[in-house]
Amino acid sequence: MSMKAHIESILFSEEEISQRVRELGIQITQDYAGKKLLLIGVLKGCYVFLADIARNIDLDCEVRFITASSYGVSTISSGDVKIGMDFDFEIEGRDVLIIEDILDSGVTISALKRFIEAREPASLKVCTLLDKPARRKASIVSDYVGFACPDEFVVGYGLDYAEHYRNLPFVAILKAYA
Ligand code: IMP
Ligand code: MG
Repeated sequence: MSMKAHIESILFSEEEISQRVRELGIQITQDYAGKKLLLIGVLKGCYVFLADIARNIDLDCEVRFITASSYGVSTISSGDVKIGMDFDFEIEGRDVLIIEDILDSGVTISALKRFIEAREPASLKVCTLLDKPARRKASIVSDYVGFACPDEFVVGYGLDYAEHYRNLPFVAILKAYA
């Protein structure tokens, strides 16, 4: 069965996303003019967004990854965040921009911000493709947001349901399984 059979509707098309990612890249390039940027992608959901946004940032960038998981195969956050990284890069004194797929409850990004802030970066900001404010538990905002997301479970462009649908080129609402 085609993956499209599982899709309720397309929320953000490939064209809309690429346009918005270009705009975000221009804004980030301006905001960090003259600086070297450390992009830290949050695996695995960031992988498509990071690939695209990094190519729209016209600055000297270092790209690193961190892992954070709180979901398992459920669609509701469990609240405990496991963080993992390779300790082969310096955070102290760097201008750090976290790249994440979606800000939902905010639990993941809050934990990551605490983890990175403890390592004394020169600055720390967050860039998320999507912001879903309806379920926010932690008081946190994303500094750069691609799109506001309605209170639906979405997949595609890196976002998964149980590790599937990450490769869809658009962001879509998943059909509820009856
Ligand atoms: P938070 O900790 O609740 O903000 O959740 C952030 C993480 O949950 C994201 O990095 C995603 O991996 C996952 N997540 C939250 N909402 C969705 C969704 O609608 N679709 C897919 N993954 C989601
Ligand atoms: Mg996920």
